Amino acid sequence: MIHESIAIQDGQFRPYHQISVSAEDRAVYFGDGIYEVVRLYGGCFDALDEHLNRLYRSAEHISLTSLPDRNHLRAMLEELVRRNRLSDDGMLYVQFSRGIAPRVHRFPGEAVTASWFAHINPLKRPVDIMHKGESAVLVQDIRWLRCDIKSLNLLPNVLASEEAAKAGCREAILYRDESHVTEGASSNVFIVKDDVLRTHPANHLILNGITRQRVIQLAEELGVPVEERVFGVSELLEADEVFRTSTICEVCPVTVIGDHTIGRGVPGAVTRKLQEAFERVVTAGRTTV
Ligand code: PDD
Repeated sequence: MIHESIAIQDGQFRPYHQISVSAEDRAVYFGDGIYEVVRLYGGCFDALDEHLNRLYRSAEHISLTSLPDRNHLRAMLEELVRRNRLSDDGMLYVQFSRGIAPRVHRFPGEAVTASWFAHINPLKRPVDIMHKGESAVLVQDIRWLRCDIKSLNLLPNVLASEEAAKAGCREAILYRDESHVTEGASSNVFIVKDDVLRTHPANHLILNGITRQRVIQLAEELGVPVEERVFGVSELLEADEVFRTSTICEVCPVTVIGDHTIGRGVPGAVTRKLQEAFERVVTAGRTTV
């Protein structure tokens, strides 16, 4: 018999099917909250501390002060993996909202504390796509000016992802204007030109991906020059290689953007070198960036 999946709601372990979110939760009314997605490889968290750092940083930036103690949360998440008896690859989703209160835009009083839940699902690595590459479309970036916060407000990302899906692609690459590509709807974007790796600087216009940070570090270790600077649409399309990174897609080559083939239309040498280095980190079970 398959055992029932266990989740956490507001600090209590519960069967997954029993967790629910109130209609008066501020996540529902306003998207007033934050979240994280963490990978598990072989039943072990990957870069959990880095994700928790970003979670508490996001909380601070939206003045969400009633998160549980960090060590306590970490221990609960580890216990969640044990209770689910997960020994394979998977992902954790954890979200915090500003709590449950009648619909008034401003913050509710201090008596209202954060509501939250976390769950774990088995998730295979996208091996085929990592190997072959994928196509993407360009979509205008209409998001707010604090994309560094991992906020629950994802409507522009959802709309961009839907445009990509309608075009038969897996990701939308976002640009603010012709001279400024930012990131993917749910990933960071890198280009390679003349063996130099480029990606958008980690500022308020992108989410500073944990995978992004790891790839920059790996590139430096491999002696690949890295530039964190803004590039435009033509630089993107004329790049020798393009790839995107995220907790879910890892290091994923982008071989076609719209009707434009990138480089030779196959995953490039620098991308493959970084994928191999990433693989070594994951198989070694290194759990920090
Ligand atoms: N998304 N940029 C955006 C807008 C993202 O939503 C994500 C991740 C990333 C990559 O961050 P990281 O390497 O830390 O996963 C960049 C997650 C996976 C999601 O929303 O499902």
